[in-house]
Amino acid sequence: MNKIAPLILSALETIEKGKSIRVTLRAIIEDTNITKEEESMLYYYVFEIYRKLNFIDLYIKNSSSSYSLKKIGVENRSLLRLSTHLLKIDLKSLPDVLELLQDYYYQIGNLEFSTILNSIKDTSEEQLYENRDDLASKLSLQFYLPTWIIRRFIDQWGEKFTLELLPSLLKNPPLYIRVNTLKSNLDKIEGSFNSQNIEYTKVEEVENLLKIIKSPIPIPRIKEYIEGDIVIQQKASAAVSLVLNPQEDERILDMCASPGGKTAHIAALIGSGKGITAVDLNDERTRVLKQRLQLLGAHDITVIKTDARELYNKIDYTFDKILLDPPCSGSGTYSSRPENRWRLKQRDLRWYVNLQKELLQSAARLTKENGCIIYSTCSLFHDENSDIITSFLQDNENFFLEKTNPNIGFQTKIEAGNVQEVFPHLHETEGFFIVKIKRRK
Ligand SMILES: C[S@@+](CC[C@H](N)C(=O)[O-])C[C@H]1O[C@@H](n2cnc3c(N)ncnc32)[C@H](O)[C@@H]1O
Repeated sequence: MNKIAPLILSALETIEKGKSIRVTLRAIIEDTNITKEEESMLYYYVFEIYRKLNFIDLYIKNSSSSYSLKKIGVENRSLLRLSTHLLKIDLKSLPDVLELLQDYYYQIGNLEFSTILNSIKDTSEEQLYENRDDLASKLSLQFYLPTWIIRRFIDQWGEKFTLELLPSLLKNPPLYIRVNTLKSNLDKIEGSFNSQNIEYTKVEEVENLLKIIKSPIPIPRIKEYIEGDIVIQQKASAAVSLVLNPQEDERILDMCASPGGKTAHIAALIGSGKGITAVDLNDERTRVLKQRLQLLGAHDITVIKTDARELYNKIDYTFDKILLDPPCSGSGTYSSRPENRWRLKQRDLRWYVNLQKELLQSAARLTKENGCIIYSTCSLFHDENSDIITSFLQDNENFFLEKTNPNIGFQTKIEAGNVQEVFPHLHETEGFFIVKIKRRK
């Protein structure tokens, strides 16, 4: 733990400045020489602290009125979070925690580090629940989510379904890999996995997708991953391009494409990138997209860096099929990206919804007669999913819903037809929403 503690602190500081947990940990691991066990410990602490952030922060807040978490600086904040995890969740002794972390403490007023830790240690879990009288605020501490999100879930589905769903947002979803048929094939990958003792099962509903049961080496370190013969992709995400069902002589648009997981899958389904246009707004993400498509052998794709809401001004043709996978709250991915649960504010949700509406309206202008739009999000909020679709169909009578195939989740009936909803506690993948909107002739 002596070697890992400064790495955990440094990761917590970087993540608080806005970086994702995965990117931060990957960079730290590339830069340091640590064993597999130390790497697991680093992942464990950073993920656990971010999953339980409200619970941990409440211990710190309740233990003292002489300083505020906001004002003590990111270094001390990270230090107190790790200390609290060790004391209150791992139940380590105070002298052990002091010895391990004392050197990283920056003086707060005239408070000794031992005084702060003592009062965190003496704070009881019952004290955290004081004044939490309604169900949502209790569940918020029990399942580590902002209260407003729990309230929204209860409004959407009621208490029973919400209670069934919440534990799944704390567990990692299964790991899936998609065989990249532009560079390899299922037989080859299965042969190689067998020789490397990687245990897997085939996913029936999604061709060329394997669920990893156990692997002696982390998948991102195996040759097939590094060379782009396989891609790590959630089952729900891989289902989206199959729902699009791209064909060779069609014109296809991926409106929000980076990092290119779905674009590359579309190319693999067609057997080439010809006819595919991939758009992204962001400079850096467009660069990542091009790099990724190159690695995956998805050549001949037209990549355009622009605001997809303006695309109709820049081109004079329309598309047979459009994939719109817009930016969203990511609330279906809280288990694998726990930092997102604390970053999203209610006003951000409104911002996402407005952007999604505008992008969908732009997709409509770019769709050929008889063509279709596949709209997908990794969100669980109705605001970003069925509500958007209902209001779009009310405003655009020349569009209607068609059933989505394959079906890996629920076919939920809304006023205008069926949408596909995928839930982490029921469908062995992250939360997703997929809908097919067809344009009339
Ligand atoms: C959910 S991600 C897309 C993930 C991608 N479809 C995949 O499967 O790998 C959303 C992307 O939309 C891009 N984006 C955001 N606003 C946009 C806009 N107005 N026009 C085009 N792209 C946009 C973001 O930069 C981001 O890369």
